[in-house]
Amino acid sequence: MIKTKNLYFKYEEDIILKNISIEIKEGSFTAIIGANGSGKTTLAKHFNALLMPAKGEVLVGGTSTKKDELNARKKVGFVFQNFEDQLVYPVVEEDIAFGLENMELGNEEIKKSVDEILKELNITHLAKRNVNTLSMGQKQLIALAGVLAMKPKCIVFDEPTTNLDEKNKKSIMGMIRSLNKKYRMTIILITNVLNDLRYADEIVVLKNGIVIFSDKKSKLESSVLKEARLYD
Ligand SMILES: Nc1ncnc2c1ncn2[C@@H]1O[C@H](COP(=O)(O)OP(=O)(O)OP(=O)(O)O)[C@@H](O)[C@H]1O
Ligand SMILES: [Mg+2]
Repeated sequence: MIKTKNLYFKYEEDIILKNISIEIKEGSFTAIIGANGSGKTTLAKHFNALLMPAKGEVLVGGTSTKKDELNARKKVGFVFQNFEDQLVYPVVEEDIAFGLENMELGNEEIKKSVDEILKELNITHLAKRNVNTLSMGQKQLIALAGVLAMKPKCIVFDEPTTNLDEKNKKSIMGMIRSLNKKYRMTIILITNVLNDLRYADEIVVLKNGIVIFSDKKSKLESSVLKEARLYD
């Protein structure tokens, strides 16, 4: 689904990602784990062409993000770490429609997709609400709805459970899991919580912009997590 080949990325003179070659398999539930500042978000932003490699390349469905940004944007949805920034319009239903409006769809088609997704997530009652009056968990659902409405093949969730209470954490993780199991959607979960690895079948471990592990979860040894400073 996604391949990176010898990917390097820099902010100014700082090398943030170094020689990253990984594959995210179609239909997999892949967790990208690493300490704060290890480069998780920066790496994931390459998957839907929000960032471009300084060297190397990223292939989405076989096509380089440098050659076709739109392909990457359509195939890979992104639920941001600070998902509140993702909500651009005040009214919930307008907000969910936002991404679709950029896809050259007719108004009727957009309305139908928005209604469908509201129903599926059991949030039809929130359609006319002002986004600013919603709870954190509800806001997150709206951000997710906006991404799901675009029907991507793959979704990146960047630390989706930060700021949520235990109940909402469980519910969002359950939803992510069912997107993978029921709808065969490729899931990329960015986290620094070891406990979140229980849902994943493939793991990528980052340390200071370097991939120190990328394989099936069954092959992951605790020494790797220790090296990535994910243990005390
Ligand atoms: N816009 C930017 N300009 C300069 N440096 C940046 C920028 N964004 C991120 N960085 C730096 O790049 C490095 C990797 O950041 P990134 O956000 O990818 O880490 P992360 O693993 O997602 O961390 P966290 O767990 O805190 O979200 C950090 O050292 C960070 O300070
Ligand atoms: Mg991050």
